[in-house]
Amino acid sequence: MLDRIDHTGVAVDDLDAAIKLYTEALGMPLVHREVVEEQGVEAVLLDVGDGHVELLSPLGEDTPVGKFLAKKGPGLHHVAYAVTDIEAALASLADAGVELIDAEPRIGIRRSRVAFLHPRSTGGVLTEIVQPHDH
Ligand code: CO
Repeated sequence: MLDRIDHTGVAVDDLDAAIKLYTEALGMPLVHREVVEEQGVEAVLLDVGDGHVELLSPLGEDTPVGKFLAKKGPGLHHVAYAVTDIEAALASLADAGVELIDAEPRIGIRRSRVAFLHPRSTGGVLTEIVQPHDH
């Protein structure tokens, strides 16, 4: 059902410093930058092999990532797995007793469709499933 790890999401409080770290010290090319209003973030994607790192900078304190930063500080925020059929994946996960934050997919970065699973039911890891937009 889960095809591969698509990206790891990292919450940052200084986007420019984080971009510098990932592009210069870690050598990952920056491939996309977008404000995702629906998620209250400015997001940056960097390539690493077939996967990505997604840097997340909150648009305000009263957003999910803003609250995360206030509570935990910068760091690993979520892990995202690619799926080919997000509706089928959500139905299967719900059947398996996994608690869904998003019962319906919403629009994510690069016109992907995404849904989050509650860390309460995934061993403390905020988990995202993502169906990439096929061009
Ligand atoms: Co993500």
